[in-house]
Amino acid sequence: MTSTLRQRSGRLPEAVTSFVGRRTARADVRRLLEGSRLVTLTGVGGVGKTRLALQVARDVRRAFPDGVWLAELAKLDDDSLVDSAVAAALELSDSSGRALIDVLVDYLADKRLLVVLDNCEHLLPACARLTSRLLSEAPELRVLATSRDRLAIGAEQVWLVPPLSVPEPDSLTSGTARQYEAMTLFEDRASSVLPGFRLGPENEAAVARLCRQLDGLPLAIELAAGLAEGVVGGTDPGSVVGSVRHPDERRPNRGGAAPDAAGSGGVELRPVSGAGADVVGQVLGVLR
Ligand SMILES: Nc1ncnc2c1ncn2[C@@H]1O[C@H](COP(=O)(O)OP(=O)(O)OP(=O)(O)O)[C@@H](O)[C@H]1O
Ligand SMILES: [Mg+2]
Repeated sequence: MTSTLRQRSGRLPEAVTSFVGRRTARADVRRLLEGSRLVTLTGVGGVGKTRLALQVARDVRRAFPDGVWLAELAKLDDDSLVDSAVAAALELSDSSGRALIDVLVDYLADKRLLVVLDNCEHLLPACARLTSRLLSEAPELRVLATSRDRLAIGAEQVWLVPPLSVPEPDSLTSGTARQYEAMTLFEDRASSVLPGFRLGPENEAAVARLCRQLDGLPLAIELAAGLAEGVVGGTDPGSVVGSVRHPDERRPNRGGAAPDAAGSGGVELRPVSGAGADVVGQVLGVLR
């Protein structure tokens, strides 16, 4: 087995947008990772599992001398590709013809390392099998998985990622808007496409209503805030809404059951549903 010669301090993508809130969540997940070798962040599509996992991975980087590595599985469409995706994420190559899982076991056996196994839900049996074997043979390995459903293997600690905080109806008092994660996220993303946009007395109630209607889901809030671009550029907002896609469409269809709105299989994004016009109207009202 060979590996690249560059320093093996790990590989995580640089964040290109700001990370909002989640102070307690980060602390909770860090604590779980200290006590457990497999932590799985679960929750509906677009709730922020991947983003939180990456943030926690950065937080704990120093505790792992052999690095913190991201294996992205979202685009894989076959269980048989999981082992090679993890090997590639660790920048391992092998020309001996051995099974990749054995290569991984050999390499990881004496490593103090964290693997973020991201978006496991459509490949659960393969992820469970690989993780189980690696954890049993690599005593210092830890895995932080994200998945709409748990891996369901021994020693797994499951942590359900909640939506971002939103104010209760009529509870917003002046100057408190940024205490709510969903509102801060909306402001941040809207201001990046509509410079000068700020939360203030003239729009706080409308943004609060919008964030509540989007159930505090960060993906939906980012998409709604992105409508600001259409407002500025004169694009028909309807076409922007039309391009909003359900999170399940972002990865290959494995032929599983259709996602339900409330369960772990997915989430209804209202901008594409019949209520879309309503949301567009609200976003435009907020941004104008
Ligand atoms: N705390 C946060 N701060 C800023 N942006 C966030 C936060 N949480 C999520 N986001 C953004 O919201 C979007 C959806 O988040 P993410 O991809 O992590 O969701 P997910 O739960 O992993 O979704 P899926 O189930 O489809 O994999 C991303 O663009 C992400 O950057
Ligand atoms: Mg994800």
